[in-house]
Amino acid sequence: MEHPVILITGATRGIGFAAARQLAGRGARVILASRDLSRAQAAVDAIGAGVLPLALDLTDEASVADAAARVEREFGRLDVLVNNAAILLDHYVDLLALDPDLLRGTFETNVIGTFRVTRAMLPLLKRSADPRVVLLSSGAGQLHGEPQAWAPAYSISKTALNMLTQQLTAAVPEVVFNSMCPGWCRTEMGGPDAPLTADDGADTVVWLALDAPSSLRGCFVKARETIPW
Ligand SMILES: NC(=O)c1ccc[n+]([C@@H]2O[C@H](COP(=O)([O-])OP(=O)(O)OC[C@H]3O[C@@H](n4cnc5c(N)ncnc54)[C@H](OP(=O)(O)O)[C@@H]3O)[C@@H](O)[C@H]2O)c1
Repeated sequence: MEHPVILITGATRGIGFAAARQLAGRGARVILASRDLSRAQAAVDAIGAGVLPLALDLTDEASVADAAARVEREFGRLDVLVNNAAILLDHYVDLLALDPDLLRGTFETNVIGTFRVTRAMLPLLKRSADPRVVLLSSGAGQLHGEPQAWAPAYSISKTALNMLTQQLTAAVPEVVFNSMCPGWCRTEMGGPDAPLTADDGADTVVWLALDAPSSLRGCFVKARETIPW
């Protein structure tokens, strides 16, 4: 596809912003979404031509419906949805001290919000010749390997996001869904000690959005390779 229409949530900074810049550089028509339209506009200005700012709060049904209507008006279809936006509020919180409201709030953004946006965009995605959805998960949500005690609400939400990827794959076979871990990246969420840059983390986002074979579906991917759930 020559100029795919790609919507990225939470793209004013970090991995979402890096992915927006890389995808715009590849000729995609990028819709850069943020809860705050002025922050989205500033990010668009930093990238340059071919990028459209969009107000979108995952946790707000009306905001999501407005965003879908705007994409329909501007482009009439969506080729790729990158579900990048997420929150991590319990970095150093012990599981047994975890406030259930924090767990609920984390789910509201990371899981329910992602589901809400994806469902709203499906009619537009189904108009694409090669519809794809990339879900930004994390190794923190991986069930494979040793049990982890780090950031429990965030980790549990990312495990749920992985199951959402599988559920969507089964429910909507005409759209390609993949979950991915960007690796530990130096962003506001990842902190200054992470070994990777946001651009490194965005590499697999761009690959899944544009380059991966469409036979790769319903998978958990890291550094362009399938990894165990
Ligand atoms: N950094 C890492 O090391 C790492 C590792 C594994 C996985 N990940 C995943 O990669 C993705 C990007 O991470 P990052 O490090 O780039 O995070 P980040 O710098 O904290 O950026 C997260 C973005 O999410 C947006 N956001 C939060 N709540 C939102 C809501 N309700 N509606 C819309 N947007 C919302 C924020 O946008 P606004 O505030 O502008 O609206 C922000 O731009 C996340 O899904 C994260 O879980 C990151």
